[in-house]
Amino acid sequence: MLTFNDPGKLQAWCRLRRQKGEKIALIPTMGYLHEGHLSLIAAAKRKNATQIVVSVFVNPTQFGPNEDYDKYPRDEKADVTKCRKAGATAMFFPTPRNMYPEDYSVFVNEDRLSATLCGARRPGHFRGVCTVVAKLFNIVHPHFAMFGQKDFQQVQVIRRMVRDLNFDVEIAMAPIVREKSGLALSSRNTYLSDAERTSALAISEALRTLRRKMHKVSKLPAGDVKKQILAHLVKNGLKPDYVEAVDAETLAPSETIRKGVAVMIAAYAGKTRLIDNTII
Ligand code: PAF
Repeated sequence: MLTFNDPGKLQAWCRLRRQKGEKIALIPTMGYLHEGHLSLIAAAKRKNATQIVVSVFVNPTQFGPNEDYDKYPRDEKADVTKCRKAGATAMFFPTPRNMYPEDYSVFVNEDRLSATLCGARRPGHFRGVCTVVAKLFNIVHPHFAMFGQKDFQQVQVIRRMVRDLNFDVEIAMAPIVREKSGLALSSRNTYLSDAERTSALAISEALRTLRRKMHKVSKLPAGDVKKQILAHLVKNGLKPDYVEAVDAETLAPSETIRKGVAVMIAAYAGKTRLIDNTII
């Protein structure tokens, strides 16, 4: 497995691989890799990628001033070991300076899908995500890029960016990977105390209960379901940020929960903000 720090060198290497007829997958990450990330490598293999490039970059432009950029967990050595074992063929560890030179001045804004849910609570977040992902697409020029469903709004925002800016890349989404307890895997889970981790289970429990109900009926009123989920989160010591039922394509609020609707949750366990979702 090769490792790169310099965007130009990775770009030249990827160009050559493409010219040789290879199929390139990109897996953008912020590192501190877990089974969720490794499932993306496995999915890329199943899609017959011959080169799987994993980028590891804690992207400063997607963090707000009071967010966890400085304390975001980092462990490059462990990430390299995990990626090598999982079958990645190249890793990219750029520095903030070589992604964003001092006089950096171009950003990508997606205005519609970013205006709601996490985008409304984290101003500038998706501008940072779109910008860095656009840069990664231009550096690697992958045939496809893999993202996890846990960040469902992110996937839809990136799909919109790809459509509207005519990027030549397929966006593939892989299912959420969960601990046995149901907790969705996230690098941020490492912040949780034992008590917070127990509280956090209420999020996946609420979604599981909803999925079970939806096996028996074709629709439910979103207002009632939202109230029930909010009450369950609060009862378990969480501070909900939002519980929303949205159309999975447009992310517009939905009055009913039915096929094609995504139920999205963000909630704080202590100071840690967790997100999870289910698509009916
Ligand atoms: O999902 C993430 O880890 C990040 O938002 C991404 C896509 C790697 C961009 O920094």
